Amino acid sequence: MKKVKPMFDVTIRKMDVSDIRFVDSVERQVFGKSLSEQTLSNELLYNKLAHYYMALIDHQRVGYIGVWITEPNAEITNILVLEEHRQKGIGTALLDTVFELCKAMSVNDLSLEVRVFNEGAIGFYQKHGFKIITRRKKYYDNGDDAFLMVKHIGGDVK
Ligand SMILES: CC(C)(COP(=O)(O)OP(=O)(O)OC[C@H]1O[C@@H](n2cnc3c(N)ncnc32)[C@H](O)[C@@H]1OP(=O)(O)O)[C@@H](O)C(=O)NCCC(=O)NCCS
Repeated sequence: MKKVKPMFDVTIRKMDVSDIRFVDSVERQVFGKSLSEQTLSNELLYNKLAHYYMALIDHQRVGYIGVWITEPNAEITNILVLEEHRQKGIGTALLDTVFELCKAMSVNDLSLEVRVFNEGAIGFYQKHGFKIITRRKKYYDNGDDAFLMVKHIGGDVK
């Protein structure tokens, strides 16, 4: 378990199966759908590429992040902070945890897809050094386009 200090005490720990119900519920609220509890469970228990972390304040879950390390690169599968806790540095604390993991695993490039109209998330990623590389037409089930964004981590530079 690791303590980071954004604007107040946030604890970042690995996600476990006890977190699945929380993740499923907030994914439905924020994105309108979830990976499903079964898929999340498989991710946590069996997918060796997957790394998920929870953010907690006063032992309460406030956000999470997921990343797949597909060496030599990696992809953020999702990041979410509860609405009432946004703009307090929690997303940054989660992202920093993934940056550290990527550096430790000598990842070259970290990528993600984000809906083109999700200006908040795009601003957040740009602030953290991600650049828009291309637009993926009709990337999402509902036909929305995505931006592919990439940050060079530099694992290839020893
Ligand atoms: C994107 C998200 C995870 C950011 O989490 P957060 O805890 O609010 O982020 P932080 O407080 O660490 O923000 C750090 C910086 O990102 C930028 N940022 C964050 N939210 C932003 C917004 N809505 N609009 C513009 N910039 C934003 C700011 O520059 C901020 O720096 P500042 O504090 O100097 O203003 C959060 O907004 C979220 O959960 N959104 C809904 C889920 C989502 O869209 N996930 C992405 C799917 S691809």
